Amino acid sequence: MPAGTKVVISLAGADRDPNRWEDPNTFKLGRPRIKEHLAFGRGAHTCIGNPLARAEVRVLFDRFFEHTSGMTLSEERHGPAGDRRLSYEPSYIVRGLTELHVELTPAFAYTAAET
Ligand code: HEM
Repeated sequence: MPAGTKVVISLAGADRDPNRWEDPNTFKLGRPRIKEHLAFGRGAHTCIGNPLARAEVRVLFDRFFEHTSGMTLSEERHGPAGDRRLSYEPSYIVRGLTELHVELTPAFAYTAAET
């Protein structure tokens, strides 16, 4: 590679490296050494908004699970388990779905007074 060549590092790709992470495309809570992930970068330019982003997600999930007891992917829109139809944004930077359809189960039964 010639000196001065511009390089873009795919942090999202690094976090799905099968040489580094066992079964990298599966969502697993409690992975060993999870703090070594690169979602917020590393070194001098590590994400300064990291604590704010984590706090926002914590509040989001706290509120979400107060009202929701279950969530499943829509089989109508994404196909059955084992044969899903998912499409991703064409990006080297962010791994994001173009659309996501889910079905939610309320955490409690709504009464007429609450509607
Ligand atoms: C889930 C949410 C977020 C993710 C995944 C994320 C990811 C990243 C990554 C990977 C970098 C390093 C880029 C590099 O190496 O050049 C970065 C830098 C940065 N992020 Fe975030 N970020 C998030 C949220 C935020 C928020 C909420 C803020 C501000 C309120 C923020 C502000 C910044 C700033 C200012 C930098 C540049 C730091 C520097 O160059 O010294 N980020 N972010």
